[in-house]
Amino acid sequence: MDIQHLQFADRFDGISGSAIREIFKLLAVPGMISFAGGNPAASALPDKACAEIARELLLDKGKTLLQYGATEGYAPLRESLVPYLKDRFSFDCAPDEILPVTGSTQAMDLLCKALINPGDKVVIENPTFLGNMQCIKLYQAQLVPVDSDEDGIRVDELEEVFKKEHPKMLYVIPTFQNPTGRTLSLERRKKIAALASRYGVVVAEDDPYRDLRYEGSELPSIKSFDHEGWVAFMGSFSKVISPGLRVGFLCANKTLLRKCTIGKQSSDVHTANLNQAIVDTYLRRDLLMPHVREICQSYANQMNTMLGLLAKCGGVARYTRPQGGLFIFAELEKGMDAVKLLQTCVDSGVAYVPGTYFYAAGGHENTFRLNFSMSTLEQIQRGMEKLNQIFTANKQ
Ligand SMILES: Cc1ncc(COP(=O)(O)O)c(C=O)c1O
Repeated sequence: MDIQHLQFADRFDGISGSAIREIFKLLAVPGMISFAGGNPAASALPDKACAEIARELLLDKGKTLLQYGATEGYAPLRESLVPYLKDRFSFDCAPDEILPVTGSTQAMDLLCKALINPGDKVVIENPTFLGNMQCIKLYQAQLVPVDSDEDGIRVDELEEVFKKEHPKMLYVIPTFQNPTGRTLSLERRKKIAALASRYGVVVAEDDPYRDLRYEGSELPSIKSFDHEGWVAFMGSFSKVISPGLRVGFLCANKTLLRKCTIGKQSSDVHTANLNQAIVDTYLRRDLLMPHVREICQSYANQMNTMLGLLAKCGGVARYTRPQGGLFIFAELEKGMDAVKLLQTCVDSGVAYVPGTYFYAAGGHENTFRLNFSMSTLEQIQRGMEKLNQIFTANKQ
């Protein structure tokens, strides 16, 4: 029989793969200035420190680390995450309420595996991170988008949606959101925790950018206001140590975490022991925050340079002014189309991600996301000049 007749699972209906990953393929051209990704700068990856730690670990505990490990995770890492979570995210969590995962992407997958039946409703911010939107769709959930403003997701609308739609889960990125760079206000964090327990909705709180703050004051996590276990917190070391290590974690109440652990058994058995041990050592030696402070200095410069140039960029109507993270979200003047203009930009050597892909129902073709972490100040200057020329020439 012809392989063309292969019938794929219904869950793939209407799912075409990440548009961003498709854009990345266009960018493999020498000299391309990419504002499209969300990767840390090469200079922010602590390769030498990781090499030394890995060598020590393998010489000291190689026979254990190279063996199969527990699905529940590398025990020392679960322990070292406890003070880290208290210090950075302001909540108490016991080691057995923490599951190390293969990137926080896996935390989202496991939560959906544990909770979502086809047709269940999941509330998302509009716009939101494409990768996790795709994960939710693969579990055949119905997306219920709720708009956001300067202070993050609109909680007044959220309460109405909780009342009317009875969703199973809310997916929210509270700090330096992807793609907008916005941060959820303190009041809204408290309100979301209260609404979750009032209406029985699991909140998947995804906070990988929190440590990348360049100005303003830190805010406690939504989970720190959760007294009944409705908030499942997903963290990641991808943006502050290395995305290639694929180490993240999920903190949730024990019953939910147990279901996720069972789900993980058939996903990947466990997260790579060596990678968990590298992150554990990084935390135990107090290497993380000095490293974060160092990278924040250059990211802040990069962001401010880009913001300064955006202010003078033709065709740009408005843009967010984040206090941290990796992204700025911008809007072109009415009638302009960032999807159509992308090819012209790529042909002239600069790329961004059209904002439409981050919206549950598309639209918003005049929006686009810019990343600044992967470009030098000089590349930001040149790339923004190219955008200025193209946008100015295409003003309506
Ligand atoms: C909001 C958000 N969540 C999760 C992830 C993925 O993180 P990880 O590398 O830990 O899977 C990203 C990566 O870009 C992200 O922007």
